[in-house]
Amino acid sequence: MAKDVAVLMGGWSVEREVSLVSGADCAKALRELGHNVREIDVKHDLDDLVAALKPRPDAVFNALHGRYGEDGRIQALLDMLGIPYTHSGVLASALAMDKGASRSVFSANRLRVPEGFVVNRSDLLDKNLMEPPFVVKPVNEGSSIGVHIIRPGSNRLTEEMVAELDERVLVEQYIPGRELTVAVMGDEPLAVTELRVDTGFFDYEAKYSEAGAHHECPAELPDDVYREAMEMSARAHRLLGCRGVTRADLRYDDTNGPSTDGLALLEINTQPGMTPTSLVPEQARHRGMPFVELVGWILERAQCD
Ligand SMILES: Nc1ncnc2c1ncn2[C@@H]1O[C@H](COP(=O)(O)OP(=O)(O)O)[C@@H](O)[C@H]1O
Ligand SMILES: [Mg+2]
Repeated sequence: MAKDVAVLMGGWSVEREVSLVSGADCAKALRELGHNVREIDVKHDLDDLVAALKPRPDAVFNALHGRYGEDGRIQALLDMLGIPYTHSGVLASALAMDKGASRSVFSANRLRVPEGFVVNRSDLLDKNLMEPPFVVKPVNEGSSIGVHIIRPGSNRLTEEMVAELDERVLVEQYIPGRELTVAVMGDEPLAVTELRVDTGFFDYEAKYSEAGAHHECPAELPDDVYREAMEMSARAHRLLGCRGVTRADLRYDDTNGPSTDGLALLEINTQPGMTPTSLVPEQARHRGMPFVELVGWILERAQCD
């Protein structure tokens, strides 16, 4: 049955541009499915947003990424307005967005995460922070923005790097090896994709440029490692109480030989990229589900908390 759907996109986080692309592609798919679609470019003005949601749509398709759109805040607003929305609810979104909070939940439930801790920005220039190599990253940003890798002997954190970070920062042991990602749809993990970049680091450019990362789906991994990566991702999705589609980012250290012990979970993305060439749609396609069908599946699961 045709629904009135409002697609929320853009927003004012650093991931605005990516969200505009996801939103336009999802809106197109929703129209192909026969729905009445309203595209809302969310700006930093709540009165405008509430006005754009009148008359009230049957559902919101949330194509926002990053702060405000992915961290439980827009979800709370939609809950209060009584408009069903796609993807995760308030708490799951907030937990997933805060890497300090989500890693506490994961490690308390025996899901392996890199060794690490949250510090105040002012503690970062402390020489004995952690034995390099280690990673310094914002607790609540996406798309590799603000991620610094400190290698032994080569580079150090500078005052300029530190000045750009928020008050709370995550310091993590650097996991060498390979970069994996797993989409979870409902409670089911779809596939494991390995991401390869020439630069060796998966930064913003590599994530979104044409020439960016090479996606290998399904990843070439030993069967038990493949299965364990799928299982860890599905467990992480359930532990945070996520809904609809999410995507887990993992590292796999096979530098000492292949073993499931080399897997570590980095994060769960509750609003993963949704262009037809993004990782989640790619895995859905690998499992026989075309992009338009995936978008329809996500819409069907729209709900309030
Ligand atoms: N502990 C780590 N060890 C190795 N690489 C890491 C580590 N943490 C982050 N990275 C690299 O930085 C990228 C971004 O980190 P991630 O935690 O996924 O945050 P986000 O994607 O939200 O920016 C990862 O995809 C990975 O390539
Ligand atoms: Mg990530």
